[in-house]
Amino acid sequence: MSNSMDTGDLSAKVVALKRELGPKVVIPAHHYQPPEVVSTSDFIGDSYKLAVMASKTEAEYILLCGVRFMAESAAILAKPGQTTLTPDPVSGCPMADMIDELSFKVQITKLEKIAGKPVVPVTYMNSYADVKAMTGEHGGAICTSSNAAKIVKHYIDNEQPVFFSPDYNLGINTVEKLGLPQDRIFAVDKSGALKGSGDPEKGLMFIWDGYCHVHKLFTVADIDRTRREHEGIRVIVHPECNREVVGHADAQGSTEGMYKMLKEAPSGSVWAVGTEINFVRRAALDFPDKVIVPLRESLCFNMARINLEKVLHSLESIQAHIQNRDAPLHYKISVDGRVRANAEKALRKMIELAEL
Ligand code: 13P
Ligand code: SF4
Repeated sequence: MSNSMDTGDLSAKVVALKRELGPKVVIPAHHYQPPEVVSTSDFIGDSYKLAVMASKTEAEYILLCGVRFMAESAAILAKPGQTTLTPDPVSGCPMADMIDELSFKVQITKLEKIAGKPVVPVTYMNSYADVKAMTGEHGGAICTSSNAAKIVKHYIDNEQPVFFSPDYNLGINTVEKLGLPQDRIFAVDKSGALKGSGDPEKGLMFIWDGYCHVHKLFTVADIDRTRREHEGIRVIVHPECNREVVGHADAQGSTEGMYKMLKEAPSGSVWAVGTEINFVRRAALDFPDKVIVPLRESLCFNMARINLEKVLHSLESIQAHIQNRDAPLHYKISVDGRVRANAEKALRKMIELAEL
């Protein structure tokens, strides 16, 4: 049997079982999910939209198709009685692994000593529950690529220095967007060493040096080559790309922001997109009246771990669980106790500030 037959059969099974389960189940999917997963989902979004919309649904089971930190965030924001599942608990994010609870605590304590006052953490959504919990415990907020500037600005305007982690590029691109003075910005490496030209005592923003391997691949040379190859092309990139790439591009945006830009672009316009390849391919198919090409092919293999077979397996486990509560759910995300309470505080702070 061909792969496309397999996909067609699986897709039909997923659709049929989903119909049978009705409003008990909702399937949100991230923009980087493979096309066959997106087409069986209820809605797609960037990490902010997924977190907010999943928490507003009335479904009993939220089967989140995206990497684990996204499902974890939905579980933290879920209402009592709602259960969140991931089709693949191994779908991690190497960037989220670049900071843990212990290094976070050590670092923020050190920075507060240097600054001589409280330093507020602003932590990217691409982090795990323990780090989100530390953020809440220290009075900070989560942010995503769609709202990082708004959230950082809120604290900086109140004269509170910020510890931004784990993505250096999103941090520095936010600094550029806000026009913050470069001599008050410092990079922090894993050993805790600070890199910057000014006096750290006057530091406004301290940025952890994590990165996304998918977005790190894009270069200024890619943009120059693409512009030579396609006259009049416009280049849009995700803010996880490095500062030079974002500075050289025509625009930057979260996945939802870029999708909207492409949707609203004039017919016949030509675009190069610097982000994950499944997103670019889908946008090209969704908007055939425009020419949409990848700036370079770059795959998030963790996102690509989710497939229809795993989605079906999760749905079957929900069906079995409804009939017999002892049947295991594949795979339930649990975040409890102090970690959940503090992580929720940081996520709700983000929603409050983003919606101001
Ligand atoms: P968005 O919030 O823009 O969807 O980004 C999530 C992500 O992981 C990008 O690599
Ligand atoms: Fe993590 Fe990068 Fe994949 Fe986003 S694209 S989930 S940041 S590895």
